[in-house]
Amino acid sequence: MQLLSQFLRRHDTDEQLMDLIATLMVACKEIALQLREGALAGVLGTTDITNVQGETQKKLDVISNEILKTVLLNHSLVAGVASEEESESVPGNKDGRFLVVFDPLDGSSNIDINVSVGTIFSILEAPKDEDYSTEYPYLQNGRKQIAAGYVLYGPSAVLVLTTGKGVNMFTLSHTGDFLLTRENVMIPQETREFAINMSNHRFWEPAMRNYVDDLLLGADGPRDKNFNMRWVAAMVAEVHRVLTRGGIFTYPWDSRSPRKPGKLRLMYEGNPMSMLVEQAGGIATNCYSDILDVQPDDIHERVSVALGSRKEVEVLMEYHARSE
Ligand code: AHG
Ligand code: MN
Ligand code: MN
Ligand code: MN
Repeated sequence: MQLLSQFLRRHDTDEQLMDLIATLMVACKEIALQLREGALAGVLGTTDITNVQGETQKKLDVISNEILKTVLLNHSLVAGVASEEESESVPGNKDGRFLVVFDPLDGSSNIDINVSVGTIFSILEAPKDEDYSTEYPYLQNGRKQIAAGYVLYGPSAVLVLTTGKGVNMFTLSHTGDFLLTRENVMIPQETREFAINMSNHRFWEPAMRNYVDDLLLGADGPRDKNFNMRWVAAMVAEVHRVLTRGGIFTYPWDSRSPRKPGKLRLMYEGNPMSMLVEQAGGIATNCYSDILDVQPDDIHERVSVALGSRKEVEVLMEYHARSE
């Protein structure tokens, strides 16, 4: 069994980046412990605070965010952090080399029903001599990410990581080590499985409605095969399924929100997951173009997301291209 640190060293990972990833994992292990204790630690349930996203925070949203901030901002390499749960970015060491952007707890509506959640992170180079308490140094497109990944807290805790040289998975052992359990993950090109919140059907663009309606027709429709559907309501778990056995996951444009950008956040969810999916041979798109090329104007910007098995995402994009 290979330790995360051994694996990264063997793959010539930058020493400082290795140091930062190890530090991030200290925080994720603490979050995993809090989740495991659940009701015993009194951490389940909701606060009365509404975050900048307009969502009521779960206690564990707040706890996870505090753990990540404390661990990262005490590290000399971290110039600042931006989080789904913070209205503004938080500065660290002004001479630090990295910015860390994160969704402390993804899928937090699952906490109280004891279903999978995760931490999603994205690591950027900190541009020199900027004010890291403002959002400007963070507004880099997804192609600039140095590393990205998530820790899925499911039946086991799994780190899924890319440093731009493929995607690898590490499982948290009882000794507290992340051990390599799947190397060089590649997403199958074709699939018969899709994931979408069907209750939003009436709010989608016509192209998305047509695409999903044809999936539902199965072998009786133009797709000539039957599809299966899954919805965990945690992007981190949906992406893990896609990386593990293929599929397409989408949270599309939605007519309820201003400028129809969808629900998911570009910097905390869209970009890190898109880097992983592209590194694993899949496609991650806003239905028209690659998410990684979208230039953020706001750290909390939202984006339409469709990602997964290459051939299936191409079909979805054809439906959208035909509608333009
Ligand atoms: P978060 O818990 O970080 O706010 O993110 C939740 C997101 C994402 O994980 C998931 O795909 C989606 O919300 C689920 O949305 P629905 O409640 O519409 O199913
Ligand atoms: Mn949230
Ligand atoms: Mn999330
Ligand atoms: Mn979250």
